Amino acid sequence: MIVRETLLGKKTARLPLWFMRQAGRYLPEYQAIRHNFSDFMAFCYSPKEATEVTLQPITRFDLDAAIIFSDILVIPDALGQRVSFKKNHGPVLEKYKIKNYVDVDDDSFSIDLAPVYEAISQTRAKLSKDKALFGFAGTPWTLACYMIEEGKSEHFSKIINHCSDKDFDVLLDLLTHKVTLHLKNQIKAGADVVQLFDSWAIKAPAEDRERLLINPFIKIAKAIHQDFPSTPIVYYSRGEASLSVAIARAVEEHLPDVPIALGLWQGVDFADITPHTTLPLQGNLDPELLLQGDEAMEIAAKKICSHMAERPFVFNLGHGIIKETPPENLTRLIRCVRGG
Ligand code: CP3
Repeated sequence: MIVRETLLGKKTARLPLWFMRQAGRYLPEYQAIRHNFSDFMAFCYSPKEATEVTLQPITRFDLDAAIIFSDILVIPDALGQRVSFKKNHGPVLEKYKIKNYVDVDDDSFSIDLAPVYEAISQTRAKLSKDKALFGFAGTPWTLACYMIEEGKSEHFSKIINHCSDKDFDVLLDLLTHKVTLHLKNQIKAGADVVQLFDSWAIKAPAEDRERLLINPFIKIAKAIHQDFPSTPIVYYSRGEASLSVAIARAVEEHLPDVPIALGLWQGVDFADITPHTTLPLQGNLDPELLLQGDEAMEIAAKKICSHMAERPFVFNLGHGIIKETPPENLTRLIRCVRGG
């Protein structure tokens, strides 16, 4: 399992690779199954179909890891803030009412999300032993953005106005607890690695980073490590290089023995991270370059690989695959990274 070994800080015979949103709309075989569901969340809660689409990119491209087909928004959904997807509009969440979520007990939360765990165990049983299976969750901050904004947002004004309230700490603590539970349940079901998505890290006011981003992450990682000491944890953020460096410092200070890796988006240059930490890294080719699929993509991929040649490194994109991407572009990129 070269992805897992690399994320544990070991050097492997070749560079491992997988792609964020590798199971998705750019694949015709995904669309064929997607069309059977009018409701995206119902698709997420169908273990047989979720297993099938999780394995599709592995079958087609022989990637080194699978990521379970699910969504970060299953957590608000299981807390009772129901999620729906409108065509070409992204997610829509019910009206935010914190008092309804605080009483959701762990057992009923885990029962609600049992289809996700069932998909993980079915996938793990079918996936070849040399390939890692990723479980995942959104970070408390990123989930809070969707919950308070009640969906996708342009300006994030509600969350920015609300994030210094007392109520907000109640939400952050609740999400820290439920994210930990969801990740532990996924590891129990068979996930080999877990990844946290902090897609909206960039919107957190810089002076509040510690409270909003770093402390919740450290709490989650510590709790996972207590029960599952050999499971690597990847923190992916769409934020500035200084945030990844701050996370690395906090890890060195509070969790020196925990296998944590940093996933970087394309807005961050590896050269701004590598001098400051020895943590394994993952990322960060621009998905727009993969969409184009030309020589510029190969040049950028080779540059990343050569910069990272001496370190534990997992090749990935800086964000998810864009839905218009021709699948052949992935074949070309994989050949380039694997040196064919
Ligand atoms: O292959 C994989 O990466 C595994 C599955 C996965 C999905 N979502 C499936 C999905 C993962 C890891 C996610 C994570 C996720 N979901 C994030 C974090 C990563 C990121 O993109 O920043 C976020 C913010 C979400 C929330 C979400 N889900 C949004 C904003 C959307 C709509 C986006 C869009 O492109 O329309 C989704 C829907 C979604 N999640 C799709 C898929 C394959 C597309 C929906 C469809 O098929 O109709």
